[in-house]
Parts: sequence; structure tokens; C-alpha cells
Amino acid sequence: MAETTSHRANIMICAGTGCVSNRSFEVKQALEAEIKKVGLEEEVKVVTTGCQGFCAQGPIAIVHPDGIFYQLLTVENVPHLVEEHFLKGRPVEKLMYTPPEEERPVPALSDIDFFSKQRLIALRNRGLIDPEQIDEYIARDGYRAAARALTSMTPEEIREEVKASGLRGRGGAGFPTGVKWGFCAASPGDTKYLVCNADEGDPGAFMDRSIIESDPHSVLEGMIVGAKAIGATQGFVYIREEYPLAVDRLIKAIGHARDYGLLGQDILGTGLDFDIDICRGSGAFVCGEETSLMASIEGRPPTPRVRPPFPAVEGLWGKPTNINNVETWANIPVIIDRGAEWFSSIGTERSKGTKVFSVVGKVANCGLVEVPMGTSLREIVFDIGGGIPDGKRFKAVQTGGPSGGCIPDSLLDLPIDYEKLAEVGSIMGSGGLIVMDETTCMVDVSRYFLEFLRGESCGKCTPCRDGVAAMHDILVGICAGKGSQEDIQILQDLSEAIRDASLCALGATAPNPVLSTLRHFRDEYEAHIEERRCPAHVCKALIAFSIDQEKCSGCTLCFRNCPSSAISGERKQPHSIDPETCTKCGVCLDSCRQGAVVVA
Ligand SMILES: Cc1cc2nc3c(=O)[nH]c(=O)nc-3n(C[C@H](O)[C@H](O)[C@H](O)COP(=O)(O)O)c2cc1C
Ligand code: FES
Repeated sequence: MAETTSHRANIMICAGTGCVSNRSFEVKQALEAEIKKVGLEEEVKVVTTGCQGFCAQGPIAIVHPDGIFYQLLTVENVPHLVEEHFLKGRPVEKLMYTPPEEERPVPALSDIDFFSKQRLIALRNRGLIDPEQIDEYIARDGYRAAARALTSMTPEEIREEVKASGLRGRGGAGFPTGVKWGFCAASPGDTKYLVCNADEGDPGAFMDRSIIESDPHSVLEGMIVGAKAIGATQGFVYIREEYPLAVDRLIKAIGHARDYGLLGQDILGTGLDFDIDICRGSGAFVCGEETSLMASIEGRPPTPRVRPPFPAVEGLWGKPTNINNVETWANIPVIIDRGAEWFSSIGTERSKGTKVFSVVGKVANCGLVEVPMGTSLREIVFDIGGGIPDGKRFKAVQTGGPSGGCIPDSLLDLPIDYEKLAEVGSIMGSGGLIVMDETTCMVDVSRYFLEFLRGESCGKCTPCRDGVAAMHDILVGICAGKGSQEDIQILQDLSEAIRDASLCALGATAPNPVLSTLRHFRDEYEAHIEERRCPAHVCKALIAFSIDQEKCSGCTLCFRNCPSSAISGERKQPHSIDPETCTKCGVCLDSCRQGAVVVA
């Protein structure tokens, strides 16, 4: 592992997609060049890691052994950082993280709430190893579970251990993993397949990508253990084409595992033959649905089919197939290594272990968090997420991806687990968590998700294809100020029909955003329909911009910024907006420093 090398310090720079898009590779090169320039290359080593979770602050880096956390690094501030920190021994405060509403930076990563309040199991190696070096994974006890499972456990013992751990599938439905393995193991036939589902099509979700980018071997090791438990000889990782870095790291990891005799024929001399190939996704949300995914691997159009038969009985090319999500696989080595009892001591009565969430939206600390099941939404949004920026009020949190639900502030103390989320009309899904503030219109949110699902419906079954489109049309009408009293009832009736009659879970869960917002934010629908008013001032047809003549100082900022030339007025005189020309883009509101622009 990097920290144990002979260098006196290691600077672990994040090379996750978020940080890479903020030029972390350039920062890395600049660091290496600068360290060489000052003659410290024998003492200070630059190491790239996978996503460290705090993506909003990227590029980020952690200096070990002191554990100092640096954020928002640029090529320009590298010389100062190297000189101060590594030559003079003075950590650079201005590159450290300062929590919202505090003045002093927090130097150590372990003292930053975003990190200290998490519990890492699936992400146990994030930021600690170079994901492209198998030796670093092995140095952190990697492949120990596989060695144990392959040399000293029977397939049944492995399945029983996973069953006893209480692990449930992290891909959405939360089906008990050990039970699912048992179905596939019990299916007759010598040829069985394993699949790792890394399609991750939910907007805003990046849990699976980050696991693969930061620790690809944890997934491979889980699959090797699963191969023995189920009797599979071939595995596939079905991964989004849009994840080039994750694909690249996976390819390297598979190559290294083969070189080390951990994949291929007679693994570790135990007689187990198992290999893994990569299959790139076809780019549609429905590809993540297991029967579509299998069709896609087989080279057919990715449309779902009726179950039963379930994949465990009739899967890829008609053979028994076991499909699990990336995070599910990444949990397996720890369960085998530390035991079912340890794992099941974490979490709630029926939801064991931890869950990884990608926290995005109107929250100060966007990023990837892993917390024990049972952690409250409030802890995630406020303690770890740092709360709502710009002094705005929290409104809702959406869990479960596009077919999830919106949870209001009155339920912020809800402990998150599969059952509790279902009780309030949402789902765990695969771990997308979108925070919304008071400027979010909940009717518009429903419209957005239904638009996404309408576009992603494969079109094979009528309830999903036409029903979701019909619901979307109604929502568009309500947002446009053309809603009628019957709309709410029609939305509810359509929801029931679509839920009950759709071919796959895409359609069956598509009404969730509407049902949950109707349940918790019905007053917003009523305001749109009965008062032709959008309380959050989002729906353009229902709002109008004007300028408060008392407050306007005539600074001309709005006049100069308006892209539609809808604002007129003389310098130092109150301005006004022509409602006919105004496109309600909101630029005037954002640019006015007097608070003179009024939205009503
Ligand atoms: C429309 C749709 C999309 C899905 N997308 C994914 C996905 O991206 N990743 C995933 O693991 N499961 C996804 N699922 C769930 C899979 O069908 C399947 O249940 C899951 O991969 C099983 O793994 P698990 O038991 O480990 O959760 C999706 C389901 C539906 C209906
Ligand atoms: S990509 Fe660097 S913290 Fe996520």
C-alpha cells in the first residue's frame, strides 16, 4: 500500500471522474514536476486514487501520514503547496476545507464531518489505494476472502454465510443475496453464468461507477467467491459505455487478476475455472433491468421479458444466471472475511450493512457517502451533506432514482432502510439521493421524471408506453397552467393501472414520483390547478417578472444582462420589464443586487 512505502509522505490525488473532469491529471503532473524540481522525488510520492467521495470539492488530495485534506487544487497553486507543505513543513490553510458557516479550515480529513460520519464497507479502500495496482488491493487484505472461500469453504457454506449476513441486493429491489444464489446453485446444468450489473442509468447516480473506479478488485473478488458458491464458470460485467475510466480500470484489474492466477483455469490451484469479461451497455435506462440486460449481452435488442422464468432458472443463452449489482458484489469479500455476524450487527432489523448514496442537488457537499442502514435522512443531508446552501430552506429529498419518491421535511428523521422508505411512498433504489430546496416545484419534478421515463420506456407494453406518456401530458398541462380539477384523480387512476399492468419494473414503478408528490405535496398541485399559481416560482406559464420601482436604483445591470431586451429604463431611474417580450429566464433576478426584481 502506498502509505507503507519508503517515502516520507504520499500525496493521494483523486483520479475519479469528478476530479479528472476538474483537471486532476494535470494537477498530478504538475505535482510530480514540482516535487522533482525541488529535489524531493525520493521523499514525496504522488499516488492516484479512485473517487474519494467529496467530488464537489475536486480536485482533492490527501497527504499521508498526517492526513491533511486539500481541495479545489489547480495547476497554478501547486508550486506554493509543494514549497510550503513539503519543503517548509507548513500545511497550506487556504487550500483546506472550511465547513459552511465556519471561518476556520479543518486540516485533517478525519475531522471533516463529510468523512468522519461515514462507515465504509463497500468503499473500504477508497482513497487509500491506487486502483490500478493489484498489489495495493492485496496489501489491504484483498483476495483473502477469495482464498478462504476457495480453499476452505464448501459452496453451501459460502451461501449460508451470505444468507446469514442479511445482505440484500443493492441494485434496487433489495432481494436477499444468499437466497438468490441458492436458486441459481439449485438449478440443474453444468454451465452457469454470473453477471455484475454496472449499468447505473439513474440520472445523478454514480455509486457503482465510483466503486469500480476506486476499487475494481473488490467487485472481481466478490464474483470469484460467487462463482464457487453458485458453480459458475463465466462472469460478465455489464457496464455503461459512458463510464470510460471505470471500464479502463476494470480491464486493467481483470488483466492483473488473470496474471496472478485469480481468474482463468484452476484458480489458486483449487480446481475452480472462472473468468470474467466486460460487456458495454447499449445506453438505455431499461438495459439495467435484468432481462433486458441479458438480451443486450446476447446481442439482441434490450427489451424486458416476462418473469418467470427468472434468470436463476433460464438466463443468458437459456442457462442459469445470477445477476447482482456492483455494490452487492463489493460487499461479499468483507462478509466472508469478517463473518456474517459482524456484518449483520450493522444496520436495522431487516436491512443489514451499509448503503452507498450519491448525494446531489441543492446540498452543500455533493458527493458519495456510505452510511449504516438506519441512518436518518437528516444526518445524510445536514451532518454529512452540510445542509442547504445560500440560506435556502430544505424542501424534499428524492430517493430511488427516477422511479423513486420525494420525501418531505416532516420525515427528515426517517431512518433509511428498505421498509421505511417504502412506507413513505419511496424506494431505496440503487442509492441516488437528490436534495431539493424551496426553489424546487414538486409538480415540475414529477413532470421531469415522467419525461425521463417516457423517453426510456422500451415501448413493448402498452401501459408503460402509452400510460406514462398520458401521465406526462397531464403534468405538462398542469405546469402550463392548463390543469383541470379531474387531473389529480386521472393521475391516480392511471398510476394504478400502469403499476399493475406493466411488463417490467420500469413501468410498474414509473408512477412513483407522481404518487409520492401527490401524497406529500398535494397543495402544490392544487395551487397550480385551482389558483393558476406555482408556489416555487418555477413553472414559467404561472409566473411573471416585474421590477419594484421603489427598490430599483437604475444601475442598468438587469438591462445589460437581459438576453431578450425586455427591460427598459434610463440610468439612475427605475427600470421596467415588458411582459410580452420577457421569456422568464430569470437572468434579471440573478443579476439584480438591490433585490428589486419581483417574481409573482
Ligand atoms: C428499469 C430498470 C433499471 C434497472 N437498472 C439497474 C441498474 O442500473 N443496476 C442494477 O444493479 N440494477 C438495476 N435494476 C435492477 C435489476 O433488474 C436487478 O434487480 C439487479 O441488478 C439485481 O441485483 P441485486 O440483487 O444485487 O440488487 C434495474 C431495474 C429496472 C426495472
Ligand atoms: S472524483 Fe474526486 S472526490 Fe469524487
